[in-house]
Amino acid sequence: MNSVEVRNGIYWVGAIDWAVRDFHGYITPSGTTYNNYLILDKEITLLDTVKHDFSEITIKNIKSLVNPNDIKHVVINHIENDHVTSLEDIMHLTPKATIYITEKGKKGLEKFFDISKWDIKVVKTGDTLNIGSKTLLFLETPMLHWPDSMMTYIKEDKVLISQDAFGQHIASSVRFDDELITCESMTFLEEGVIDYYANILMPFGQLIKNKISDIQKLGLEIEIIAPDHGIIWRNNPNKVIQMYLDMANGKAEDAVAIVYDTMWHSTEMMTLPIMQAIKDEGLKCKVIKLRSTPMSVAIKEFWKSRGLLVGTPTLNNIMFPSVAEFLTHLRGLRPKNRIAGAFGSFGWSGGAVKEAYDEFKRMGLEIYEPGLQVLYRPSGEDEKKCYEFGKAFAQKVKEYHKKF
Ligand code: FEO
Repeated sequence: MNSVEVRNGIYWVGAIDWAVRDFHGYITPSGTTYNNYLILDKEITLLDTVKHDFSEITIKNIKSLVNPNDIKHVVINHIENDHVTSLEDIMHLTPKATIYITEKGKKGLEKFFDISKWDIKVVKTGDTLNIGSKTLLFLETPMLHWPDSMMTYIKEDKVLISQDAFGQHIASSVRFDDELITCESMTFLEEGVIDYYANILMPFGQLIKNKISDIQKLGLEIEIIAPDHGIIWRNNPNKVIQMYLDMANGKAEDAVAIVYDTMWHSTEMMTLPIMQAIKDEGLKCKVIKLRSTPMSVAIKEFWKSRGLLVGTPTLNNIMFPSVAEFLTHLRGLRPKNRIAGAFGSFGWSGGAVKEAYDEFKRMGLEIYEPGLQVLYRPSGEDEKKCYEFGKAFAQKVKEYHKKF
């Protein structure tokens, strides 16, 4: 795909990664894009680069518009590998360009490249760069989602280059929100936003709220949000801002996600009466079998639901490994505003359900106790206990959900 004009001489010159399915452990069934932007003004400016494998593509896109040697400024909003590893190839073509980056970004950049040969200018929030008819305003966004992160606002065009924030891992033949909604659906786009937020930005809800508030206090009008992944928001940028605020404020469905694994189907047999009870209480219930479902999908489904039930057999007195992996992963994402419970089968001593609760407590989640354990295989009597457990949990979820 060639360059695409975003607005008034601001061009997308990025690359589409149709093939990537494992993005540093995060499963991306729809691929992704690495978006970077070229501004044609008196002083030609490139915002961000792409993953190294796609250097040739972004350079080809740049060359379709200008001689790369004419690029005067290169803004690096974020130094994660998927956005910075083609910098060397680009700087080779325009060695005299000045790089604009945050202090922490510069320190990180030194670990990737020999930067002594480049002219680097450290910028902070409020600094501006006039490139002719346009003014770039830099906004640091530390920990959104790396310490070095920043965004760049193009004042005259009301365009926010938002780096990872507001992105989605979606490879598509189209570049804009209105186009994607037409060729896919609004639900497809929303799922992309939720998936991305849950797996990457969940820990940073408060920071997100603060940063959106800072931007609003600065009175910046935003008509286009152009992230470094996925679709550019030109039709309705407020949609994604509101989605972020909602998720940061703990919005979830009045629903339960059952995330489980099983050795000889006993824990799996427990999920069925539990699921039925949750449905009978009028709640939606999503059942996710670990080892058959990518971790990032389990995380997304957890994030969409107010309640989490974890099903784990006991193996050698501890949780089943895939369940332990899921909960460890989840703890790193620092979830909030969710209620959790656990169940599972055991053979001779048990212990997994207690371990799951220990993890919930470490995460600071609301807890429904006691959990439910079944010896060996659920009997008819045990299945009734499972049903009652599911019913009681669903009632607690409904009660807890009213707080939001
Ligand atoms: Fe898309 Fe944090 O890199």
